Parts: sequence; structure tokens; C-alpha cells
Amino acid sequence: MTATAPDTALITGASAGLGTEFARQLAAQGHPLVLVARNRARLEEVAAELELRYGTTAEVLPADLTDDGGLAAVVGRLTDPLRPVGILVNNAGTGLLHRFEDNSAEEEVQHLRLHTEAALVLTHAALPGMLGRGAGRIVNVASIAAFLPRGTYSAAKAWLVSFSRWANLEYRSRGVRVTAVCPGFTHTEFHDRMGMDKSVAPSWAWLQAERVVREGLADNARGKAVSIPTRRYKVVAALARVAPARLMAGPPRRPK
Ligand SMILES: NC(=O)c1ccc[n+]([C@@H]2O[C@H](COP(=O)([O-])OP(=O)(O)OC[C@H]3O[C@@H](n4cnc5c(N)ncnc54)[C@H](OP(=O)(O)O)[C@@H]3O)[C@@H](O)[C@H]2O)c1
Repeated sequence: MTATAPDTALITGASAGLGTEFARQLAAQGHPLVLVARNRARLEEVAAELELRYGTTAEVLPADLTDDGGLAAVVGRLTDPLRPVGILVNNAGTGLLHRFEDNSAEEEVQHLRLHTEAALVLTHAALPGMLGRGAGRIVNVASIAAFLPRGTYSAAKAWLVSFSRWANLEYRSRGVRVTAVCPGFTHTEFHDRMGMDKSVAPSWAWLQAERVVREGLADNARGKAVSIPTRRYKVVAALARVAPARLMAGPPRRPK
């Protein structure tokens, strides 16, 4: 019997935070990697470290996913029939610190594109190959905010959860598992990049990336459409279904 080679995994937002952790855990499972983000130097650093530590291969693909050319480059890699990608992690994301009315429409549109359009376009590119092979895994990094009233970030993440629920229902019987991973506050660069004061969230609210990714990958392997890491955030999501919206808005986004 010949063992089949592990599927290649393409991860967006792999230069930092949850994306680097997805890359690390998938490399530890033996998957070759394609690492996508804007910062080439940081991608190369992550690739070199993971190749050395886990003996897998890691390609870097620098691309801005809010840019048509950047998105097209990643679509090109996902649709290359000679180098199939069996696992897609749509993870790249940023937050907006200010209120909706204080952001420019352009900032809001770029934010929406990154969280929704990029995931849609990359999923659309990856699916035909996965369906043709009768196997594939797609992880969409959403947020607990998908269930809460927290601005256009919540609205975008709610779209990603709804999209993942539908796609998992539609494609799971054909071998493709799609999961929205919905973490609460997680220690990464996310809030610093936004310029947000992290002390607005209590210490119990903070998660480690290692656990979010471990539970997310396990739920995806089981074919779950939605993964909410930790019991405390499962309770938050359950409460959000019944509690008045004004009680569920969470801490304000205060500048540092
Ligand atoms: N941290 C949290 O509390 C939390 C909670 C719930 C959900 N999430 C979600 O988790 C995901 C990962 O965030 P994180 O917490 O790991 O944040 P992070 O540490 O700031 O990492 C964000 C990653 O996205 C990449 N990225 C940003 N804009 C991009 C663009 N236009 N094109 C391509 N790549 C881009 C960044 O790399 P470059 O700068 O090199 O492009 C970086 O690799 C996001 O979707 C976020 O919404 C985070």
C-alpha cells in the first residue's frame, strides 16, 4: 500500500497571529504550505522557521487581498492543476478602530473586501479542484463578533459564518468540509495594528492562538460548519441568541 502525500495548505494572513499558528499546526501535521500576506520579509521568516522545524516545504506568495492583482495572483496559485491545494484557510483580516460614520467609505469598502470578497473569490477558485478530487478543507476565520452587534466588522463576519454554513451543507457530502472559526479576543497583533487599547477586555476574555487553531482544525476535520473555541465563548454565542442586542455589544473600541 502506498501512503498518499499530505495535501498542500494555503493560508492567508500567514505572516502574523492566527495565520502563523495555522501554518505551524498544519506544518506539524506534515502539510506543505503556501503562505500569503502583504509582507514578504515576514512570510519568508515564517517559511524558513517552519521548514527547519517541521521539515515541510513552505512557499511564500506576497499579495494584498484588497487589490485585484493580489487576489488574482492567489487565484492563479489555487487553480494551478499541477500544484493542487487541498486546504484553504481564509484568515487575513484587520479591524477598524473608529465609528462607522468617522471612517471613509473607502476604508469601509476595503475592510469589507478583505473579510468577505477575498474569502468568496478564493473559495470559488479552490472548490472545483477539491470537488474534482472529492476531498478538500476550507477554514474561514470569522469571529464571535459575527453573533454580536459590533459594527461593520460583525456584519462582515456574520456574512462569513452564513457563507460557511451554507457551503458546508452544500459540499460536505461531496468531500469538502467548510468551517467558520469564531474566536473571541485572541492574543495576536490584531488590536495593536488597529491602535486599540487592549485593557478594555477583561483578562478572562483573552484566548491563546494555539487553542483557537487547534479547536478550529479539529472541528473542521469533524465536518462542523461553525467552530466556537472555548466554553465561555459558546455561552456568549448562546446568550446572543436571546439577550437584547444592547447588552451584547461588548467593550468599546478605545484607542491606546
Ligand atoms: N485577534 C483577535 O482577537 C481576533 C478575534 C476574532 C477573529 N479574528 C480574526 O482572525 C483573523 C486573523 O487576525 P489576527 O488576530 O491573527 O491578526 P494579526 O495578528 O494582525 O494578523 C493579520 C494577518 O492578516 C494579514 N493581512 C492584513 N491585511 C491584509 C491584506 N490586505 N492582504 C493580505 N493579508 C493581509 C497580515 O499580514 P500583512 O500585514 O503582512 O499583510 C497578518 O498576517 C482575522 O480575520 C481577524 O478578523 C481575530
